[in-house]
Amino acid sequence: MSRKLVDPNIAQIVLALPNAEATARAGALLAPLMRPTDVLALWGDLGAGKTSLARALIQTCLAKTGQVEDVPSPTFTLVQTYETADLPVWHADLYRLKDPDELIELGLDEALETGLLVLEWPDRMGADLPVARLDIELTEQGEGRVAKLTGPARLWEERLGCVLRQWTVSQV
Ligand SMILES: Nc1ncnc2c1ncn2[C@@H]1O[C@H](COP(=O)(O)OP(=O)(O)O)[C@@H](O)[C@H]1O
Ligand SMILES: [Mg+2]
Repeated sequence: MSRKLVDPNIAQIVLALPNAEATARAGALLAPLMRPTDVLALWGDLGAGKTSLARALIQTCLAKTGQVEDVPSPTFTLVQTYETADLPVWHADLYRLKDPDELIELGLDEALETGLLVLEWPDRMGADLPVARLDIELTEQGEGRVAKLTGPARLWEERLGCVLRQWTVSQV
């Protein structure tokens, strides 16, 4: 709910997520703003709400063509793919990735070229983690969470501004 301008090249907003519904609302607001080759890196401990946010985002993208899916956590499959109206989506959970070489087998390089890549445990990508990404950092706050969204201003300034405006409106 606040906007920080630490560095003019970095766009950042902070959203308070008092409950799981707020996490879902954040995912749903981001959905229509996604473009091919975007990377969303979801940071946070186990149970922080990474999958919850990814699920709401993907389900909102799917709903545009009337698709209804569970969007399970890719804990064991490592990656789940979805054909949504506007772009293909790769949802990956790299917690169990043993070696960054496995990333190629998972087809994530294709995701980086053509679709939206939503990553849980992005640190597992090591040096392959794209610099041009939106970082979403989820931390606990009381019973709820706080989400800090940070990305290069040239890619995210306008879109994060859009999220913040809608966020404020949807809270009234
Ligand atoms: N803002 C929130 N406040 C409280 N609980 C939340 C919030 N967002 C998500 N949760 C809950 O946290 C739990 C763990 O979420 P999950 O998305 O699986 O975490 P992760 O993928 O980070 O391990 C779920 O039960 C979810 O409903
Ligand atoms: Mg998860």
